[in-house]
Amino acid sequence: MDTSATHFNEATVKEGSAPLTGRHGLGQEIPGFRGARPTVPLETLFREIQEAADLPLRQARTLPAEAYTSTEFLAWETDQVLGKGWICLAHVSQVPKPGDFLNTEALGELLIVVHGKDGEIRVLSRACPHRAMDIMPPGFGYDGHGTAEVRDGQSGCGHTRLFLCPYHHWSFELDGSLKGCPEMHQAEGFCRDEVGLRPFRCEIWHGFIFLNLSGDAGPVAAQYAELGKDIEGWDCASMKVVIAKEWDCPFNWKVLVENFMEGYHHLGAHCKTLQTFMPAKHTWTEAERAHSMRVNLPFKEGVAADPSSEFAQVPGLDPDQAGQMAVYLGEPNFMMFTGPDRAFWYRIDPITPERSRLLTVCLLNDQAIADPDYRAKLAVTEKMLVDFHLEDMEVCTAVQRGFYAKGYQRGRLSHLEMPIWLFHRYLAARMRDTWPTIDRPAAPSQR
Ligand code: FES
Ligand SMILES: [Fe+2]
Repeated sequence: MDTSATHFNEATVKEGSAPLTGRHGLGQEIPGFRGARPTVPLETLFREIQEAADLPLRQARTLPAEAYTSTEFLAWETDQVLGKGWICLAHVSQVPKPGDFLNTEALGELLIVVHGKDGEIRVLSRACPHRAMDIMPPGFGYDGHGTAEVRDGQSGCGHTRLFLCPYHHWSFELDGSLKGCPEMHQAEGFCRDEVGLRPFRCEIWHGFIFLNLSGDAGPVAAQYAELGKDIEGWDCASMKVVIAKEWDCPFNWKVLVENFMEGYHHLGAHCKTLQTFMPAKHTWTEAERAHSMRVNLPFKEGVAADPSSEFAQVPGLDPDQAGQMAVYLGEPNFMMFTGPDRAFWYRIDPITPERSRLLTVCLLNDQAIADPDYRAKLAVTEKMLVDFHLEDMEVCTAVQRGFYAKGYQRGRLSHLEMPIWLFHRYLAARMRDTWPTIDRPAAPSQR
């Protein structure tokens, strides 16, 4: 794709370090007038989403625009959907050794994922328990300053013996407990053992490190039981992050989830890329599940493997797994897709109703990394990832514009957009404080 014709900048990729990382500073505001859309009461929006979700797939329609523009609705989603679910923050290969850490953010929380001296991986808050400073703000503190070093060229990744708040030099052990706090001996009743970086609930599943902010979600392994079976063959826990790219997205987080999950848009947005080997009309969605979904994107017959970018097939995959890509959603926002030789993980984090931060990650196994042409193949893989993702960025940005137009109309969905309908059923179920398939019959598979 000729990216010069798009609104977006070409990737800035750091060379010479593995994994390849880059922040796509798109910094793009949605062009044009907006803000005149009157807000609807949350109860009205809930009712309209519930009504849409209760329609059969053949009658399915899109949601009111306010579901993608309302601050109040995003606040509800943050609290009741994203905050109560499991949010994937990182992969174990990004913090392989004791002392390794990675800084990230989710739902406004400032977070450190850290591999402790005891071997345990924890998720801690970066908000200092003294005067609230982010102890590792981007561009300050640990990036070339303080006790930690940037590791493997990955921004936000480091290795340290302890955490040090740059403001008044309180220091913390890797488990978050307070180690040092100068000149606090006159503070009456101050008890060092009661102070520390706040820990959050975290679980590791198939090598992915998940956070649950509400603290009461059921175990990841139980919620994603079917998803675990889907991806078992790839042995994701032993894979490594080889490409990680961050994108500044001028659209609502659900726009990306809906785009990611349906293969219908191969016809338009990816007509020169994905459509040529994974035609939209052959894509199909598995039966509805409570916490995840799976969509199959079979390869067109006769399409040959591309030796310039493909690695050896993951051992043990069955012919079905090897003959297609599959796209998965672990609700609310853990997105993956797998191919015969690789796995991708996407993480979308809402910032405002119309702005999100997206991380796109490629994972490979040791066999692929040992390929004699690894560097060259990785470069081709990265270019492909950027090129087809730019196609998605274009359409997602333009969709968000449509939500502010007076001419906005709620549309009808194709059967190939079943994942969007399932996602709306999931949202509606969260409004009823339950999960899809618990109080409604599960929708059947398209095969
Ligand atoms: S704010 Fe962190 S030491 Fe004062
Ligand atoms: Fe796409």
